[in-house]
Amino acid sequence: MLTRSSLLLQVLLLLGSTTGIPIGTPDLLSTAPGGYLLQSSPIPLPFTRLINPNRKAQLPQADRQRFQSLYGNAQGSTPDQEAAVFNVPSTFQVVSYVATVGIGNPPTNYSLLIDTGSSNTWYGANGPTVPTGTTSPTGELFSVMYGSGFVTGFLLEEEVTLAPGLTIKDQIIGIATASNGFNDTDGILGIGPADLTRGTMFPNIDGIIPTVVDNAQNQGLLSAYEIGIYFAPAENGEITFGGTDPTRYTGNISYVPITSTKPAGNFVGINQTVSYGGVEILHNAAGIVDTGTTLLLLATDAFNMYKAQTGATLDERSGLLKVTPEQFGQMNNLYFDIGGRRYELTPNAQIWPRTLNEEIGGDKDGIYLVVADSGNAAGSGLDFIDGMVFLERYYLVYDVGNSLVGFATTTNTYSNVI
Ligand SMILES: *[C@@H]1O[C@H](CO)[C@@H](O)[C@H](O)[C@H]1NC(C)=O
Ligand SMILES: *[C@@H]1O[C@H](CO)[C@@H](O)[C@H](O)[C@H]1NC(C)=O
Ligand SMILES: *[C@@H]1O[C@H](CO)[C@@H](O)[C@H](O)[C@H]1NC(C)=O
Ligand SMILES: *[C@@H]1O[C@H](CO)[C@@H](O)[C@H](O)[C@H]1NC(C)=O
Repeated sequence: MLTRSSLLLQVLLLLGSTTGIPIGTPDLLSTAPGGYLLQSSPIPLPFTRLINPNRKAQLPQADRQRFQSLYGNAQGSTPDQEAAVFNVPSTFQVVSYVATVGIGNPPTNYSLLIDTGSSNTWYGANGPTVPTGTTSPTGELFSVMYGSGFVTGFLLEEEVTLAPGLTIKDQIIGIATASNGFNDTDGILGIGPADLTRGTMFPNIDGIIPTVVDNAQNQGLLSAYEIGIYFAPAENGEITFGGTDPTRYTGNISYVPITSTKPAGNFVGINQTVSYGGVEILHNAAGIVDTGTTLLLLATDAFNMYKAQTGATLDERSGLLKVTPEQFGQMNNLYFDIGGRRYELTPNAQIWPRTLNEEIGGDKDGIYLVVADSGNAAGSGLDFIDGMVFLERYYLVYDVGNSLVGFATTTNTYSNVI
């Protein structure tokens, strides 16, 4: 059986021999000249919502594919490789969120997917990139495998500009020489835990690549070692580096530690209890919060209980649960107990926005639910993914420095979306 690293090596060598990726000695890290622009306040980076018309898989299928890669790769690890989970970039999504990121000096703008479920930042998926005076190959190769494809290429040290005044020097990023599944974007801005980069680099297979957030913190660019993420239903969003944006949430942020249960704990993982109609459908289970998953995925047992409680039927065309207007009228809140605080998705927050029904293969006026089956039985250590449909209703804080995850209500928490 192939081990993870020998598989990675084979892919790299195969691609390297056909694409001429240079394998060289790493350049020495140049000492940064200092004088970084210090920021005293959090820095916002707006992002844009994309609807992907070329998507082939059904929405729940695509999310399950991502779930299985997150889960399967983690399962393959031996105990001493516990952190060696391969990254799973968000791709093949119906809806994805991209930010404009400047790379190099002078910076060229690229459109990168924002992903809390992976931690490599790379670009070059859509044609040639622009080398600049600051482009400096490290001599390492990288490769990231995911559900139904991959990216491979080499690593560079570059300047990365996330926002005016937030330019990170000596950031190690990947430049793709081959990739699959990134038609609408140039690459990924991976902002999950840096440990997820272990096993993606070659020959330094055990090395970890600090993320843009880690480097921004180390270079004194942030006022706090954290990021705040705001999505809204049917709108664009904003990610805040170095703090939270109080104009984006209401009330207090409540924090919980990253769960120690693996594999969820390798990601932005939490524990939660999920209830519907007075019934606990998932009890104190571990799972993840993920900007690269569109829906709310639940372990099969919990999903089946939810399906029975709502009376929904599985719609073959969209792959989603569907309810009649009468059933919708009877629906209850879906509750999430996280760290002693209760969050809820109202019935309106449990349905797919009808304006986007046709994009997912549904009927214009159908009522489709955003809760889908993860395909795994409960008790696996990855029993749910709170995807974008959850994050569109709650503000998310990933406190990298303290390994905490925070949530707050927003003006969208109880709003009705058509
Ligand atoms: C990406 O583009 C290629 C070539 O244009 C096309 O064959 C492929 O189906 C597209 N894939 C996706 C997922 O959009
Ligand atoms: C790059 O994007 C930033 C932020 O969107 C913008 O302010 C800047 O003008 C862009 N630069 C170029 C060269 O397009
Ligand atoms: C926020 O937290 C403070 C201090 O713990 C508390 O006094 C206040 O009532 C809380 N506000 C809300 C809206 O929960
Ligand atoms: C989190 O959930 C897992 C089950 O998925 C459980 O084993 C663990 O004890 C829980 N952790 C806490 C702190 O409750």
